[in-house]
Amino acid sequence: MALIDIQQLQVSFPHGFEHRIVVNSVSFRVEEGETFSLIGASGCGKSTILRVLAGLQKEWSGEITLLGETLKPKQRFSSTLRAQVQMVFQDPYASLHPNHTIHRTLSEPLAIRRERNIEPRILSALNQVGLSENIAMRYPHQLSGGQRQRVAIARALLLKPKLLLLDEPTSALDMSVQAEILNLLNHLKQEYGMTYLLVSHDADVIAHMSERAALMENGNIVKPFSRQDLSSASHTTAAI
Ligand SMILES: Nc1ncnc2c1ncn2[C@@H]1O[C@H](COP(=O)(O)OP(=O)(O)OP(=O)(O)O)[C@@H](O)[C@H]1O
Ligand SMILES: [Mg+2]
Repeated sequence: MALIDIQQLQVSFPHGFEHRIVVNSVSFRVEEGETFSLIGASGCGKSTILRVLAGLQKEWSGEITLLGETLKPKQRFSSTLRAQVQMVFQDPYASLHPNHTIHRTLSEPLAIRRERNIEPRILSALNQVGLSENIAMRYPHQLSGGQRQRVAIARALLLKPKLLLLDEPTSALDMSVQAEILNLLNHLKQEYGMTYLLVSHDADVIAHMSERAALMENGNIVKPFSRQDLSSASHTTAAI
């Protein structure tokens, strides 16, 4: 089953007295269990697509089916979708509240949904991403960049999502930490049977992570990459 089915998605923003189209008739499907990646130059519309799928960008047109639910523009996501679709942002420092301890950051999504067993679930989320329990009482500025992104991933995993939207999850990190986080994401995907939609501007990252990909330019998909295209990193780098 396709977990994401997008047909002719268009997103525009007000621009003076007019509208500027930033996503222009984009169509793609992501099958359950695969990692599908979007690549393309800055400003081509990648994050905007992820924001639509996370329910953060509510003005759009086209047809979208997400985890079997048909979305409508301007509509609030169902409670199921809000749990099952989670996003990890590019900059883990900006995405974590600076004045909240890690414990508070991780407990809030569970408390809002009146989930039970909050304490053991926080500990197991930290465990899943390879962080020790004693960082729970720290604030984001007391962690390294890699540890912060692990916290952001732990937060995304708390509600046992089916789909992770990963918006340049490692571009703020240095090379060795980047590899650790990518391996962690691949491992978690296997273990929990998740599906990933990944945005990256790095051809090596795309080749390492994804089954299929699409190159975007100015709000359009201009080139799809099949499994075969991506099967060898060196080919991909040359191809992209
Ligand atoms: N809320 C908004 N209001 C107006 N314009 C916006 C808004 N969000 C995005 N844009 C514009 O839409 C275009 C696409 O932005 P988007 O963030 O999707 O690009 P991107 O492909 O993710 O780029 P990058 O690789 O730099 O992150 C950009 O020109 C951006 O300025
Ligand atoms: Mg972006």
